[in-house]
Amino acid sequence: MHRSILDILKMKKEKKKISVITSYDYTLASLCDKAGIDVLLVGDSAGMVMLGYENTIPVTMDQMCMFTEAVSRARKNALLVSDLPFMSYQASIEDAISNSGKLIKSGADAVKLEGGSIMAETISAIVDVGIPVMGHIGLQPQTTMLSQGYKVQGKTKDTAMKLIEDAKELEKAGVFSIALEMVSHEVAEIISQTVSVPIIGIGSGVGCDGQVLVVQDLLGMYDKIKPKFAKRYMHLSEDIVKSLEDYKNDVISGTFPAEENWFSMEEDELKKLRE
Ligand code: KIV
Ligand code: NA
Repeated sequence: MHRSILDILKMKKEKKKISVITSYDYTLASLCDKAGIDVLLVGDSAGMVMLGYENTIPVTMDQMCMFTEAVSRARKNALLVSDLPFMSYQASIEDAISNSGKLIKSGADAVKLEGGSIMAETISAIVDVGIPVMGHIGLQPQTTMLSQGYKVQGKTKDTAMKLIEDAKELEKAGVFSIALEMVSHEVAEIISQTVSVPIIGIGSGVGCDGQVLVVQDLLGMYDKIKPKFAKRYMHLSEDIVKSLEDYKNDVISGTFPAEENWFSMEEDELKKLRE
């Protein structure tokens, strides 16, 4: 059986750090799952790294369902959480519930949505129908139009207090976990110690209960932006481009394909053909 919500909650109680990685496709998700990552997150960051949008705003429910289905076919051990995309949950609670249901029917175990106390009622309603919810506060990429872009959150006393209040409100509303994006590490640590549900940080320091990274950032295969918080464990894009150049040169020179790559006729049949 794959990890459950209870397993993730238990990890915080036992002070075990939770590893989360984004996943969008079958091939990479299989490898993330094999590596023993605790939670696969089908983030709406898919819009940027998989579809090439400038931000996450254009991502649709249909796209999120397709990515979720692909990852769910790959997943054996991890918990699977999927993002509700922009405008799939903001307009009404009915929207939020029915779109959460679509992600669950596509194979997610839980949904994630952005917003603090303003989303508490929506979160309660989704949880009430039996769908686990992960919150997402701090930097909220779906609403950066209002807040002048991607900036560190919780650098002043007032913004720090608001973040701590939001985390408490989300816990009360029934989230099983909260993603905390680009929050000063001091505030992230306070929030992690204040609420009982696991805080999954991205760019929020080591005091969180777990960490999440975009898989393409970790593997070094998305070069468009280089966030300070994204540790690159590989520079895969360089290796990929080099391999493709090698392939192209092999095609031109006739080095590829070689005998081990092709198929032959039965010898007597070939004779008959030549007669
Ligand atoms: O979409 C995403 O990848 C996310 C994580 C960065 C938390 O929401
Ligand atoms: Na997201």
